[in-house]
Amino acid sequence: MNNTMSKKLYIFLSTIVASVMMSSCVSRGNNAGWEYAPDMYYSKGYEPYSQVDSNKINPYGMNMREPVPGTIAIGKLDYQFGLENNGDGYEASIDLKAPTNLSYSDGQGKHLFEIYCVVCHGKLGNNDGEVFKKVPTLKPGAWKAYTDTYIRELPQGKIYHTLTYGKNNMGSHASVLTPSERWKVIDYVKQLSRQVVPSAPQMDIPPSSEANKTTLTN
Ligand code: HEC
Repeated sequence: MNNTMSKKLYIFLSTIVASVMMSSCVSRGNNAGWEYAPDMYYSKGYEPYSQVDSNKINPYGMNMREPVPGTIAIGKLDYQFGLENNGDGYEASIDLKAPTNLSYSDGQGKHLFEIYCVVCHGKLGNNDGEVFKKVPTLKPGAWKAYTDTYIRELPQGKIYHTLTYGKNNMGSHASVLTPSERWKVIDYVKQLSRQVVPSAPQMDIPPSSEANKTTLTN
């Protein structure tokens, strides 16, 4: 083998070795790549949500145990929602009643509404939020605003079902609103539905809710 040949072979082999080395450093998928001092990244103690090695004591090798079947954690009773995420569950939710032991006048309903709902339904529930303005096809077809008879007469339980599971283009809010917070927001929705709408014909307000008319200011 002459000198140029062995030089070429040397370059060829070192290119292969270098590319293998470099690609093994890359982290992708479940491969974290080469790590320097892994103890700095991985806790030696058990972490509930992460585990490097399978836990040898708990079932399924998990660090955090599943709750015992049929038990409810302390303080989480109201998270139990027996109704299913389907039409039957929605209809059955009519019987749900708002808890009476909540403070509805603490302004939390309005506060949460302005965080989670205005983007679509608008500040006063007129369905003129930024999302609905940009994508009008997302808007509910059957009713224009919370002041429509539909929302005014909608049973609170049905709204609770909608907030819990979502409905058509509206997603579930169960992960961002606790059950108590959902009831407070529903109370605020009902307040908005009773607001006096100057432009709306008087007939729009059914006699049953005349007594409850509310004037809301921004
Ligand atoms: C991404 C936009 C979006 C957001 C955010 C949103 N909604 Fe909706 N909402 C909708 C749409 C669309 C509908 C119509 C669903 C349908 O097709 O009946 C709806 C329906 C409703 C209804 C009628 C429910 C029923 O049972 O018919 C109520 C009440 C309501 N929303 C309240 C809220 C409240 C309160 C929040 C905040 C916690 C909220 N929405 C957040 C889009 C949204």
